[in-house]
Amino acid sequence: MVIHGDNLAVLKNLPAESFQLIYIDPPFNTGKVQKRQSIKTVRTEGGSRVGYKGHTYETIKGDIYGYSDSFENYWEFLEPRLMQAWRLLKPTGTLYLHLDYREVHYAKVVLDALFGRESFLNEIIWAYDYGAKSKKKWPAKHDNILVYVKDPENYYFNSEAVDREPYMAPGLVTPEKAEIGKLPTDVWWHTIVSPSGKEKTGYATQKPLGILRRIVQASSAPGDWVLDFFGGSGTTGHACAQLDRNFLMIDQNPEAIKIMRKRLKAVDGLDVTFKKSRAKASLAGAKVTPKTASIKKKK
Ligand SMILES: C[S@@+](CC[C@H](N)C(=O)[O-])C[C@H]1O[C@@H](n2cnc3c(N)ncnc32)[C@H](O)[C@@H]1O
Repeated sequence: MVIHGDNLAVLKNLPAESFQLIYIDPPFNTGKVQKRQSIKTVRTEGGSRVGYKGHTYETIKGDIYGYSDSFENYWEFLEPRLMQAWRLLKPTGTLYLHLDYREVHYAKVVLDALFGRESFLNEIIWAYDYGAKSKKKWPAKHDNILVYVKDPENYYFNSEAVDREPYMAPGLVTPEKAEIGKLPTDVWWHTIVSPSGKEKTGYATQKPLGILRRIVQASSAPGDWVLDFFGGSGTTGHACAQLDRNFLMIDQNPEAIKIMRKRLKAVDGLDVTFKKSRAKASLAGAKVTPKTASIKKKK
């Protein structure tokens, strides 16, 4: 299910302890407008670029997908949403909060207060190597994902189910081990979504499917409910659909909904309900709860 609306209003109307996994990738408070323009190349007579066999091509600029990422008081915005995340997690559930160096240290303090320090499971570093590099300081090429469990004595975590990665020095392990790859640690080297690859949706700040697959595989089981209330281009929903989890995605940006609609419909056999949240009353009236939502595989 996908809901278009402000996430706080929607979250307040969902029943407590409904989700095994919550992943959120809120705006990072970069102080900018996040924008991405879709670009496609088409073959035309007399186009300005010459390619294979002398065919000529034109580059066509498409829609600009964007949203504002500047907040006067970021924590006034995020904290009540994190409180809802805690309420909505099942007792064995896990929260993944995806940020970068700008806000992650404040987030650790807020989440320690909310979940308890003993509930802090990991800080995952997603490292990549792409884009412009500052010469005035170490170029920042990683994101931080804080992982908190609701109950440190009893939470779901299945490392065996996670996609493995190649050994850095495969010659130092047996061929059998090299063949199956190694379990990821808390540092994930993973390329960003390639600007020209087929995973790209054109949405600014789209995260790689490979990152979301790992999170979903480790911290939920098939059939579980997963929530992402800063849904963007729908990466979490895509991973859930591939891995047979139920999902609820929320975003307030109509462009995000447009992209999710296209992206999730393209996932084979998936039947996704799209709803609009105009007011709390109509949302409650529509009985939008993960327990009643209908997500089913087409026969
Ligand atoms: C960093 S992007 C998420 C990208 C996503 N993880 C992906 O892979 O495409 C953050 C998203 O949060 C959405 N957003 C910001 N404030 C919101 C709010 N109050 N309610 C719902 N969505 C919100 C923005 O529209 C944006 O799509």
